[in-house]
Amino acid sequence: MITIAIDGPAASGKGTLSRRIAEEYGFHHLDTGLTYRATAKALLDAGLSLDDEAVAETMAREVELGGLDRSVLSAHAIGEAASKIAVMPAVRRALVEAQRGFSRKEPGTVLDGRDIGTVVCPDAAVKLYVTASPEVRAKRRYDEIIAGGGTADYGAIFEDVKKRDERDMGRADSPLKPAEDAHLLDTSEMGIEAAFQAAKTLIDAALKEKI
Ligand code: C5P
Repeated sequence: MITIAIDGPAASGKGTLSRRIAEEYGFHHLDTGLTYRATAKALLDAGLSLDDEAVAETMAREVELGGLDRSVLSAHAIGEAASKIAVMPAVRRALVEAQRGFSRKEPGTVLDGRDIGTVVCPDAAVKLYVTASPEVRAKRRYDEIIAGGGTADYGAIFEDVKKRDERDMGRADSPLKPAEDAHLLDTSEMGIEAAFQAAKTLIDAALKEKI
């Protein structure tokens, strides 16, 4: 069983890259951000407070990993709520347990998130930390919304990206940071294809060592 851990901030390109890698190697993929989003959505839908850790933990324990769908969890408000409940240790404990269970699937898995290489799968065969400048990440989000026919304000998105980074990097429990043995991949000046090729080279080298 082989685990590939991919971490990085919002809109760094890690999601697209992770799906591509999972497809290439025939591995199962889990976008762990969706587990935090599903917990937040359950609370919002039930009209419950986002400040009650025990209630949030109960919701986290009910999340089904098989039924996660980004299209129903992508709303901005859900992402904001997710990053608020993600500071709660009891919520993290519940979701990390489920994520670790997933990571043991054969023949291998790709998990992406904020704390995969540091906390969820510290023994992963390969760890990647995908970044891009806040300006580039905000521009990507902006282009995505415009391409989808929506309207967007670049300045507001940029502020948002920075606020989310601060919350994810500044929290006490499992802050976003590269694992000591992670390979850094800065995609600011790189397309998805170039990032994929760079990742593939690192993964192939690590897999060869395992055999
Ligand atoms: O990646 P995504 O934007 O879907 O994640 C939503 C929020 O969930 C993040 O801002 C972060 O606060 C939280 N998260 C986390 N740990 C993970 C994945 C996501 O804390 N492994």
